[in-house]
Amino acid sequence: MIYKLISIVVSAAIPIISLSASSGPDKIIPQPVEYSISEGIYNLKPDGSDVKVYLNSSDFAAKVSDLPDFAREEAYELIVGKKGVKIYAMTEEGAFRASQALEMMRLLDRDIQYCTVFDYPRFQHRGIMLDESRSFKGKDFVKKQIDALALLRMNVMHLHLTDAAGWRLQIDAYPNLTDHVAWRVGETYHEWEGLGYPFTNAEDPDAYGGFYTKDDIREIVAYAAERHIDIIPEIEMPGHSMEVNRAYPEIACVGEDGKPRPFSWDLCVGNEGTFKFLETVLEEVIELFPYKYIHIGGDEAVKKDWGECVNCRKRMQEEGMTHRNELQGYLIRRIEKFLNERGRTVIGWDEIVETGLPEEAVVMSWRGTPGGVKAASEGHDVIMSPNSYVYLDYYQDLIRKEPKAVGHMQSLRHVYKYDPLEGIAPEYHHHILGLQGNLWCELIPYAAHAEYMLYPRAFAIAEIGWTPQDQREFFNFRERCLRLITVFRAMGYNTFDLFNESLRAQTGRLRFDDPTFKLL
Ligand code: ACM
Ligand code: ZN
Repeated sequence: MIYKLISIVVSAAIPIISLSASSGPDKIIPQPVEYSISEGIYNLKPDGSDVKVYLNSSDFAAKVSDLPDFAREEAYELIVGKKGVKIYAMTEEGAFRASQALEMMRLLDRDIQYCTVFDYPRFQHRGIMLDESRSFKGKDFVKKQIDALALLRMNVMHLHLTDAAGWRLQIDAYPNLTDHVAWRVGETYHEWEGLGYPFTNAEDPDAYGGFYTKDDIREIVAYAAERHIDIIPEIEMPGHSMEVNRAYPEIACVGEDGKPRPFSWDLCVGNEGTFKFLETVLEEVIELFPYKYIHIGGDEAVKKDWGECVNCRKRMQEEGMTHRNELQGYLIRRIEKFLNERGRTVIGWDEIVETGLPEEAVVMSWRGTPGGVKAASEGHDVIMSPNSYVYLDYYQDLIRKEPKAVGHMQSLRHVYKYDPLEGIAPEYHHHILGLQGNLWCELIPYAAHAEYMLYPRAFAIAEIGWTPQDQREFFNFRERCLRLITVFRAMGYNTFDLFNESLRAQTGRLRFDDPTFKLL
């Protein structure tokens, strides 16, 4: 009997790839909200002269009048017929999303079926985070991933630019950040850790690292803007900041021996120099990144040295604090106010809700979903990026088959199961801005490996963020992924080999009582 059950599961799990060669809205990722397909095939002209764009027409405006503002801005109608292609949208952004849906159809097959598509996103934030601190991959890599996000109709790239393992952004007022702590001995994070966290400089033949110059950032921002993608810079504080203390020990916590502690993990919250540093850095960040949001980290402060540091103790006394944990809230609130006064909104990891936070701050929920659920219920806007579903440094297939990764298996199927509104009462749904996949790079030192972890799971994140929940179905999605993987590989992305994914990863637990399990 067991043998029989297993053989059914095996046959159910074999991917069924449609043999029809043509392309159309039923083949793309994310799946559009509404579409119809009719008899006939169209081939796009290479010069684009057969694509006509109509912005802000009264008919289209009436059609999208009931949508939330963010969805209306990205909404489009796409009509492919005998005479070519028509695109209707309210904004350039909407027209761009249509062009990318069309481009994906073309990449899948030059024969595009006549069709009509009416489409708009479910969530306003559909993003991927790249960890440029632990492994610096540089602007060409970032631009290549922006191209992929654009094709997937995603709209946010979050760059984790600073962390203990390396500072990655030119700051004119603080040259040590890029002269010294952007370069380490130890190509991989764990090699560097094993050597005792040595930093060096660019001239050292053993140096590993790099940083974005201001011109690099301007180039990335302009490139992303052409694709209607926002870049969210993350300047981490007060934890994950050992590199700052190493570059400027004069602002680090002071030990009981009266000496600075440059190996401290956290910034010193007692020293006014820390705030001068952060505010000066953020002024330069504001100048470079023209977006509403700036991410200030806020996760995993160790807080150990705060208890011994004379400056931190003095701050606690002055502010009437009874526990050193309160220093974290003090710093986050002070920086939040600073950025708010300059017209920016703060995003922070979900720890920031634990120490008192103004309502305007946006919470990025990473420790599973509870932090996000709680923050939304307390009136905060939330971006869901739970490590229980969308952490892209986790294994995507069996441990024995994969390069070393983190945690439990988060296969394509597992990621796709996620619904960002899971557990959120309807009255708080509007606080969920969307979702994001995070690619932490402690175990991912090279660009090709990063792409391997990103694709196809980023396809799932794109579809969760765009397609209505009740229209998503895993096996249909997986079939589209297999086609898109082939296209991505042809474009030079080093994707995971979905064609050889294990049965376990494809089907999850081999149980017939799992409501998401379907026999094809
Ligand atoms: C995190 O993964 N520490 C945000
Ligand atoms: Zn201190």
